[in-house]
Amino acid sequence: MSLLDVDNLRVRFTTPDGDVTAVNNMTFTLNAGETLGLVGESGSGKSQTAFALMGLLAKNGIIEGSALFEGKNILGLSETELNKVRAEQIAMIFQDPMTSLNPYVKIGPQLTEVLQLHKGMSKKEAFEESVKMLDAVKMPEARKRMDMYPHEFSGGMRQRVMIAMALLCSPKLLIADEPTTALDVTVQAQIMDLLNELKSEFNTAIIMITHDLGVVAGICDKVLVMYAGRTMEYGTTDEVFYDPRHPYSIGLLEAIPRLDTEGEILPTIPGNPPNLLNLPQGCPFQDRCAHVMDKCRQEAPALETFADGRQKACHWTPEIITSTTVQTEGALT
Ligand SMILES: Nc1ncnc2c1ncn2[C@@H]1O[C@H](COP(=O)(O)OP(=O)(O)OP(=O)(O)O)[C@@H](O)[C@H]1O
Ligand SMILES: [Mg+2]
Repeated sequence: MSLLDVDNLRVRFTTPDGDVTAVNNMTFTLNAGETLGLVGESGSGKSQTAFALMGLLAKNGIIEGSALFEGKNILGLSETELNKVRAEQIAMIFQDPMTSLNPYVKIGPQLTEVLQLHKGMSKKEAFEESVKMLDAVKMPEARKRMDMYPHEFSGGMRQRVMIAMALLCSPKLLIADEPTTALDVTVQAQIMDLLNELKSEFNTAIIMITHDLGVVAGICDKVLVMYAGRTMEYGTTDEVFYDPRHPYSIGLLEAIPRLDTEGEILPTIPGNPPNLLNLPQGCPFQDRCAHVMDKCRQEAPALETFADGRQKACHWTPEIITSTTVQTEGALT
């Protein structure tokens, strides 16, 4: 049994201007200890996918489909059941650490509270366990820092506190929503190394939300490329990087900076994602696609699942894809 089995997940928002489908028919599985990269441009539905799984959607959101966590559907649980799942099974690191740290409370009590509440630890036990966890996320002078306020930490350190807090109750799944976007490149690399280490130490499964395929290459076993709320392509990281089947994935891969092309202007994908309230007929990527055909403007490609578990939503035929992938081979070298 997989740890997480998401089937046909759909998130709709009712708005005064009409319905917005922010996540459309998403299906994926995650095994214990595995890392899935959820990739796409701003507004593609990455955070809403995470919020749906965590039961944190805005009030105007409607969920369809199922998400079996260890065989039990976690969509539509009561608030009490959800609180239990969120504390003990699935933890989330948010895009901005300050949204989940209380600025008026020292780090110590914010960490120990979690353990006292959910693990029934005494204050002293919880304190020692929290220091241990801060050490695990490589917080210098962890014991001393328990007595400090969030604003006394740098951005990178705050993100480490968030990771420590998320891991305190040994969750089986960690959802990390762009955990390094607000950090400079060196700190980003440190946090990624840290997540990689924690992954092997605690065997935590991770859903890593990012717009950066470089991050995916460094940490993820599988990748799901999203566009306008839909899955464009899904497969193992190796499959998608070395044999991308969707023009959007190919475009994203070509936009990764490479050491051997220093000084060259990186290709970008022209245009912007469509307005979800006003999606074109056919494929949502048609106006930006280098391989658009008449069919793409008439009919949205269905999400196909291949025998090896890969998924793709594109009318473009694999033969043509195979011949063009030759050009993108070596994108990781
Ligand atoms: N409460 C809401 N009501 C209506 N639409 C919403 C609501 N919340 C989110 N959306 C829409 O859902 C879409 C997906 O948003 P989401 O936050 O998942 O994007 P994202 O991929 O995480 O982007 P980013 O990289 O910028 O964080 C957006 O177009 C957004 O406007
Ligand atoms: Mg987001």
